[in-house]
Amino acid sequence: MQARLLKATPESVQADALMVLLLQGEATLPAEVAGVDQKLGGAIQEVVRDRQFTGKLMDQVYLRNLGKLPSTWTLLLGLGKAEALDPVRVRNAVQAGARFLRKKGNRRLAVLVPAAALQRWAPADVARTLTEAVALGNFEQRSLRTRSDEPQVDIEDITIVGLDSDRGAAEAVAAGLTLANATNQVREWVNLPANAFTPSVFVEKVREFTKGSGLEMQVLEMEDMRRLRMGALLAVAKGSDEPAKMIVLRYRGGKPGGPTLALVGKGITFDSGGISLKPADHMEYMKSDMGGGAAVVGAMRAIADLKPAVNVIAVVPTTENMPSGKATRPGDVVTASNGKTIEIINTDAEGRLILADGITYAVKEGATHIVDVATLTGSIARSLGPVAMGAFTNNNQLMGLVRRAADLAGERVWEMPTWADYDGLIDSDIADIKNTAVLWAGATTAALFLREFVDGRPWVHLDIAGSAWQDSSELKAVPKGPTGSAVRLLAHLAHLLAIEKT
Ligand code: BES
Ligand code: MN
Ligand code: ZN
Repeated sequence: MQARLLKATPESVQADALMVLLLQGEATLPAEVAGVDQKLGGAIQEVVRDRQFTGKLMDQVYLRNLGKLPSTWTLLLGLGKAEALDPVRVRNAVQAGARFLRKKGNRRLAVLVPAAALQRWAPADVARTLTEAVALGNFEQRSLRTRSDEPQVDIEDITIVGLDSDRGAAEAVAAGLTLANATNQVREWVNLPANAFTPSVFVEKVREFTKGSGLEMQVLEMEDMRRLRMGALLAVAKGSDEPAKMIVLRYRGGKPGGPTLALVGKGITFDSGGISLKPADHMEYMKSDMGGGAAVVGAMRAIADLKPAVNVIAVVPTTENMPSGKATRPGDVVTASNGKTIEIINTDAEGRLILADGITYAVKEGATHIVDVATLTGSIARSLGPVAMGAFTNNNQLMGLVRRAADLAGERVWEMPTWADYDGLIDSDIADIKNTAVLWAGATTAALFLREFVDGRPWVHLDIAGSAWQDSSELKAVPKGPTGSAVRLLAHLAHLLAIEKT
């Protein structure tokens, strides 16, 4: 896929399809659209007047250009009301539009930059947002289907129309492609079923994906985990016939001994719940329980391309969570690699167990800042749905950077509390801590557990159990299927940490 900026007027753009983005409830067509409309003999104005197109978010009208423009088709795409316009909604709408056009067989897409975007954001941010959004439209959930009624084409060429390539906009287009490609790869991995994506397959996919990137890759095997006394990770792995792995990636962009950002991702390739077995309904969806681990890998690949001046280490403990005669029992007590003893009340709270040893490994490797990402709790999914990830922290400064990174990425985070009022929830009668507590505040309980392993270092926990997958047809604003949640946020975070030198 390639992408470029074009200063020329849209009337001269060579493409299969031209996307025209319009706000809801605007009395007249904006100036940049008027020229297109004139060439089309007033067709846009007519569909607006007839209320065939209102500009509501994701509203689409597909017009044949009949030789009146060098492009074959025009797609009118609604951005919704001006007051609700933000980088998240622009990305989601343009992504949906690009996906629609691809499914119609269009390979070369052009997007007319809306003046409304340039009034709000810097040209480079607009260029990155639009490129990223179109490229995100290339993701297709049906990679294992052998038959299809739709044309099977990829978007190959993106033109952003109406921007100069100065002021960083050309670099921004390249960055947008990099970030979208990494996101789409993660979506594909999350989409794959657990029989096609075991921990061993995960390792091989990462090896392939990071080849030639300059990232250093290391894989810890189960004998390494035993040597390092990773009793929490091993307790989860015990029930499965598939060997657990711990993937470690290193990016050395900063000074040796300088700040090191650790990205720790949950890589459960299938979560049956273990002996605390989950109900059958929707259990198939638990193939996506490695979404945090995949996001960390995707972000590392983007970081290797974008080259921020900071050191980053990624740690992805990966295993299945299965019931068997060898599986961990509720009530068992294990010792994590930082020496803390854990009473396992519920074997379905397995993510926090594998992260405990993943985070400890990052601490021992010299992490100065820790961000973990995990599809950790049904509780956060019930609170925020697929719209946002939940964030928990022990450090407001790092949390501030995460917020800024989310804005740059066009992703939503919502901070949740870890106040001292919750202290004591994970106290165990028999061990140092237990892995589950009461019925309420489930996402905070999980965060309190993880905090036991960060050694007091600046830390943010991102719970993406809701945001990693969008499965409701009622929710219009977020495209369906695996979302690639947190990939772009983490890549931007590395960049912000590099320039802020915190
Ligand atoms: N992987 C699940 C969390 C999850 C739920 C992700 C729904 C995506 C959608 C996690 O391992 C889990 O089972 N959490 C339990 C914890 C409970 C046993 C304390 C949960 O949230 O119910
Ligand atoms: Mn679970
Ligand atoms: Zn899980």
